[in-house]
Amino acid sequence: MSDIKQVHQAEYAAPNLGERIVAALTDAGIPATKWTPKILGPADQIHGGGLQQTQAHAAMVDITPDMHLLDIGCGIGGPARYFATAHGCKVTGIDLTDEYIDAANLLTQKIGLADKVAFDCGDATALPYDSASFDMAWALNVTMNIEDRAGFYAGVHRVLKPGAKFCISEAGLGPGGDPYYPLTWAREPAYSFLMPPDNMRTLLENSGFRVVEWVDEAARRKATADGRPAAEAKPVETPLTIQMTRGDDYLERRANSGKSIKEGRLTNIMLVAEKV
Ligand SMILES: C[S@@+](CC[C@H](N)C(=O)[O-])C[C@H]1O[C@@H](n2cnc3c(N)ncnc32)[C@H](O)[C@@H]1O
Repeated sequence: MSDIKQVHQAEYAAPNLGERIVAALTDAGIPATKWTPKILGPADQIHGGGLQQTQAHAAMVDITPDMHLLDIGCGIGGPARYFATAHGCKVTGIDLTDEYIDAANLLTQKIGLADKVAFDCGDATALPYDSASFDMAWALNVTMNIEDRAGFYAGVHRVLKPGAKFCISEAGLGPGGDPYYPLTWAREPAYSFLMPPDNMRTLLENSGFRVVEWVDEAARRKATADGRPAAEAKPVETPLTIQMTRGDDYLERRANSGKSIKEGRLTNIMLVAEKV
């Protein structure tokens, strides 16, 4: 195993995750026909803001049933299944964590969505796809683990069709100093490749993308008591939790993200770019 894969695996390890999720839902008496994005959301939307934020981001673009989307760093497939369920499109997800891809496949088969949504285990910086093969790409809270940002953007640019959209959400470095660790994507600074949002934008534009939407999500979060996104008004009944996927220390790590946002140490951008 390469060094980076080892560090990555230590960060994201989640043994038997798919089986644990299936068991929790089965024990709660919820049949697979009812495993909606809301029921699965607490465990399968692995980013601040959860399903609500995926929905808000998706509302910024037009996703149509004839499209084939690429979800890079897809986690266990929550956003991918949401796009396919809500918009009828085809989605390919790719992620470096083997256990996440196993869980993604298991859950997708169980809900009968495998004809529309497929997953590959692989590295976001070496996308194993033909040039100009996707109508849209997504990277939700992934790039903080990607050191070679220019190489990553160049690869996404290659696999997208001309004019295709690239939707990104990411935490970045704020002006207030280093963030507090452990963070939700990295327990140690060594696996956290944050950059100020303006630098990220310049790199993206230099890679052949034009930014068409730019939302400063941190500004909204700063206004909440703990720097976290506003909670869903009416949470759905589900036995699933984010700790099942990300570990028991997740809440401490999430609190560090919120505190870092509050103190201007972290930024959070939600954007839509277009392949020029
Ligand atoms: C915070 S999670 C977000 C998962 C998913 N996008 C979501 O929102 O539910 C970050 C994901 O990025 C993946 N990841 C990080 N670096 C990667 C790389 N170089 N190639 C592929 N996936 C990567 C991790 O395995 C993890 O699933």
